[in-house]
Amino acid sequence: MEVGRGSFGSKIGVVLATAGSAVGLGNVWRFPYTAGENGGAAFILIYIGCIMLLGIPGMVSEFIVGRHAQANAAKAYDVLSNGRPWKFVGYLGILTSTIILGFYAVVAGWCLQYLFASIAGQINGDAEYVKNYFVSFSSDPLKPTLWGVAFILITHFVIVRGVRHGIEKASKLLMPILFILLLILVVASCMLPGALGGIRFLLHPDFSKLSSSVMLEALGQAFFSLSLGTACLCTYASYFTKDTNLLRSASQIAVIDTLIAVLSGLMIFPAAFSVGVNPDSGPSLIFITLPNVFQQAFSAIPALGYVVSIMFYALLVFAALTSTISMHEIGTAFFTEEFELPRKKSAWVQTIVAGIICVFCSLSVGAYSDLQLMGFSLMDFCDRLTANFLLPLGAMLACLFVGWYIPKQVVRDEFTNEGALRGRLFGVFLFAVRIVCPICITLIFLHQLGIV
Ligand code: PFF
Repeated sequence: MEVGRGSFGSKIGVVLATAGSAVGLGNVWRFPYTAGENGGAAFILIYIGCIMLLGIPGMVSEFIVGRHAQANAAKAYDVLSNGRPWKFVGYLGILTSTIILGFYAVVAGWCLQYLFASIAGQINGDAEYVKNYFVSFSSDPLKPTLWGVAFILITHFVIVRGVRHGIEKASKLLMPILFILLLILVVASCMLPGALGGIRFLLHPDFSKLSSSVMLEALGQAFFSLSLGTACLCTYASYFTKDTNLLRSASQIAVIDTLIAVLSGLMIFPAAFSVGVNPDSGPSLIFITLPNVFQQAFSAIPALGYVVSIMFYALLVFAALTSTISMHEIGTAFFTEEFELPRKKSAWVQTIVAGIICVFCSLSVGAYSDLQLMGFSLMDFCDRLTANFLLPLGAMLACLFVGWYIPKQVVRDEFTNEGALRGRLFGVFLFAVRIVCPICITLIFLHQLGIV
């Protein structure tokens, strides 16, 4: 175990760990069907616009706070605001990421169970069988809950190894594997007969589908996908070294994240179209539709279908794991520094809190569907609360803090690494965080309230 705060050991470690946080179920699962349903390439263009206009400036803002303060999220805001109540932005981020960790681990746990089930050949069968398999698994009172908790425990064991030997090492191993698996699956999927229909579905720009809610959808997806607004980026940046180029790192991470999202679409849709299956949204896509698709698409060579299915669930598990690691680290760093607990103990605190949320969320979509809040299952409630409200709020406050509150010289020094970089885009960055981001995010809230 490392002593002291720890830091990432290399530039590639910084990019892979932070990209690992960004790349997750949001890319491999949520992005493809959201893009496909909302205008394909037209949506992707809007999405890229959101990433550039709001995502990258938002990321750099969180990086600035974290790297300058070299502390957990709550302390970072505290240090930079001289004890003013901005600390609560850090608390908000810690709360948000813990809630996300709780419900995200439920789906991640399903992926883990499906990985083992596909290795054991248990999800082979006709469409009805695959559907029943999912329904009986997800409504079991014990199994899915145990898998979710198991996923948090795996995350826990990476976290206790520390920043460099845990987070960085895991990301350096998992991210390249993830990318290779994805490329193999994209090639296999695009070579199937009739795959072109799927490629067209994803990439054909249908501007008629664009509306204000689609734009908001793109914005919400961009925040979730970049892990913005949870203080995750702020926490990771506290492990960056002084020579990390913040703007360049944010841009590289955004490019990797977007590339993986688009490639995921090119993995899912061509295969689905080649067997004439309409890709649905929601959990049924990856747990009911796709196992079927793989079997049908590779029915001529069943061994290939078997391997593809294993690769697919391994991909999901790895993508989810690098993300849950980052969510866990936010709380762990907080408990370690604020309560002066050893890292191992604080990791347990975070594991137990997230584990409890995970258990209730899992039961709410399975055996105990009356576990509801405001008419939603607890799982959906947590999802909506974070994606629609807490993430945009966190991102907006980070931008306002960096844009308006902390001294401009501090911001410039961080942006330019104390003058070592030219920082030609500093003015553009400042304009984005001061004006563009707050206005756009306010519009999201007004839209949600039905005012615009
Ligand atoms: N960015 C992750 C994804 O796209 O799946 C989700 C995520 C990770 C959200 C870390 C928030 C976070 F702090």
